[in-house]
Amino acid sequence: MNPSRIIIDTDPGVDDALTFLFALASPEIQLEALTTVCGNIGIEKTTRNALAVLELAHASHIPVARGCALPLVSTLGKAGEAVHGTSGIGEASLPEPKSQPIHQHAIDYLIERILAEPGEITLFTIGPMTNLALAIRKEPRIVPSLKELIIMGGAIRQGGNVTPLAEFNVHADPHAAHIVFHAGIPITLIPLDVTYKCLLTSADVERLNRIDSPIARFVRDATATYMDFYRKYESFDGCALHDPLTIAAIIAPELLTFEEHHVDVDISGGVGNGNTFADFMNVAKKPANMKVALDVRGREFVELFIERMESLCRAGL
Ligand code: BDR
Ligand code: CA
Repeated sequence: MNPSRIIIDTDPGVDDALTFLFALASPEIQLEALTTVCGNIGIEKTTRNALAVLELAHASHIPVARGCALPLVSTLGKAGEAVHGTSGIGEASLPEPKSQPIHQHAIDYLIERILAEPGEITLFTIGPMTNLALAIRKEPRIVPSLKELIIMGGAIRQGGNVTPLAEFNVHADPHAAHIVFHAGIPITLIPLDVTYKCLLTSADVERLNRIDSPIARFVRDATATYMDFYRKYESFDGCALHDPLTIAAIIAPELLTFEEHHVDVDISGGVGNGNTFADFMNVAKKPANMKVALDVRGREFVELFIERMESLCRAGL
């Protein structure tokens, strides 16, 4: 079977960076571009990190298009820095990238690529959905042209990680999420309900570092701050592989349990702002607008992730 052709819209971000590496290590996937957005940190740093991580993986032929510097309505908070460090990639210090982002804005790049090959591109959003929301508003014809959209975002039965009710990516730009959820794209949602079951431990990182490789060292240094955060606030010795779990929707969907639901997002601006909720009892009588992952065989996923990263490291990277 031909590999799935994917574009990742991202705000790197420690687990975003791990997602690119995981995609590059997966033969079932062809990573064709990254588009950047503000979120975990500002757009300058997310774009720089995207370029730098691709260089680390000898993949700077993959284009990076810089996107929005601000959410649609909200302001950019500082919550991401507490988790990902001020650089966005923890304690890892990657050299200044030699490559540059392409000249086209991420919104126009997404529109051009999706319209050029209808039904071919699977888009991943692993940051706030600002770029995609604006692309939909600018060129609604991309909606029927996308093959699939895989989103890391939301918390359905689970509580939030940035407010008691909201998950970071949705909370950072709830209006964008609202546009995307109701656009009519075939969506697969990977919420906190499943990502919190996929915990990379410090023992896993040590295991990877038995291979002497810049990628293994990057994973160790990038996850150090991230793991400190989880130790302090979530009381476990490890970190959740939120964004990398999206890749499982393509390469190992059997690890996930999906249900189809009508899912909406609170944009009222109150205490529940950014809350994502499924209509489990179908009281609103609205058709399902997405497939939601509600369970996962978490440890099996983490093993798969480590095996793929080991193969990348052994390949001399
Ligand atoms: C999401 O928030 C970000 O901090 C992570 O990169 C992930 O995309 C998890 O809520
Ligand atoms: Ca992210």
